[in-house]
Amino acid sequence: MKKQILVTGGIGYIGSHTTVELIDSGFEVIIVDNLSNSNINALDGIEEITGIRPVFEKFDVCNKSQLTSFFEKYTSIEAIIHFAAFKSVSESVTNPLKYYHNNLASTINLLDLMKKKDIPYLVFSSSCTVYGQPDELPVSENAPVKKAMSPYGNTKQIMEDIISATLLSTPSLKAISLRYFNPIGAHPSALIGELPIGIPDNLVPFITQTAIGIRNEIKVFGNDYNTPDGSAIRDYLNVVDLAKAHVVALQRLLKKQNKANYEIFNLGTGKGISVLEAIESFERATGKKLNYKIVDRRPGDIEKVWGDTSYANKELGWKAEKSLDETMLSAWNWEKHLKKQKK
Ligand code: NAD
Ligand code: WQD
Repeated sequence: MKKQILVTGGIGYIGSHTTVELIDSGFEVIIVDNLSNSNINALDGIEEITGIRPVFEKFDVCNKSQLTSFFEKYTSIEAIIHFAAFKSVSESVTNPLKYYHNNLASTINLLDLMKKKDIPYLVFSSSCTVYGQPDELPVSENAPVKKAMSPYGNTKQIMEDIISATLLSTPSLKAISLRYFNPIGAHPSALIGELPIGIPDNLVPFITQTAIGIRNEIKVFGNDYNTPDGSAIRDYLNVVDLAKAHVVALQRLLKKQNKANYEIFNLGTGKGISVLEAIESFERATGKKLNYKIVDRRPGDIEKVWGDTSYANKELGWKAEKSLDETMLSAWNWEKHLKKQKK
């Protein structure tokens, strides 16, 4: 029998790609999502890619009574992958309570029901944002967690602490937190991808929207950083590579290969790419020239970060494989698919 996995936030960007990889690896996926930052069309995309339409229940994971009823209905769930959260750094600064409420209450509810319903395994979406500007690069999992740069980042730090404390008090529960660097790109089929609502905060959706004519130009935030070309450096990771890491982490838990009740892994390429290099890669991969201008630094941005991913490489046997150019091309194909859908 196929193992049943609950994917919260499975209609969203990373959740939909992970659902595809889970189905392709023989799991039965049940998605819970309230569609607060996603579109139900992603379910059609998942079905078109995999040939299977996962069960979908629309509700807010913060709603404890609905979550309790859900677990009374689905009694064979063996593990949870928890993506459901709000993720905009800028919105978290203007509306912190929205972020603390959604991101913390959803996680607390899930942990409580995992205890009550004897669901032992959790894979949690964490972020490199927990490191702030690290003292040493590449940054490893052992680097200190610094004061968060935003309420969003703080929710990820607190949720990691909540998971760790809950596991200490309930040793039957096991969890893996995955600290993603910068996920970008889309499924090679262009049937699922990132769906920013309004003006994108993130670089790659801004690049693709500029290339297709929705935006006039890209603002490069700063060229006076202490980096080779002066623009800020990040570790951009293909979303399909990232999705695959979730399957491997889940299998590690299910096969009881974990070395501690709570494990943390960085997920990135291990390579730093500047904003200007990212723009060049997009231009090279797509043959499209981008209109950009240098503007002031964006407040709250860090100068440079990229991950030491050797622990995930060794322990999970996982490595980011796709090139930056291939990933940029996938983001572009997704943007073109969105335009076709709108027509
Ligand atoms: P996303 O917004 O595309 O997906 C999140 C999904 O969760 C959405 O479909 C949304 O509707 C749903 N959701 C949110 N709150 C919910 C709730 N209370 N109940 C039910 N559904 C809810 O975001 P994403 O980029 O796929 O991110 C997934 C996870 O990964 C998040 O936890 C995010 O913080 C984390 N993460 C993302 C990035 C990134 O750059 N995208 C980087 C590091 C970590
Ligand atoms: C990347 C680089 C910008 C837009 C955020 C969150 C982080 C994690 C990943 C969830 C930066 C520059 C951007 C633009 C630009 N998410 N940029 N012009 O800020 O590294 O990380 O997403 O956990 O927590 O903070 O990603 O894509 O916004 O920016 O020059 O229009 O591109 O300054 O150097 P960031 P980003």
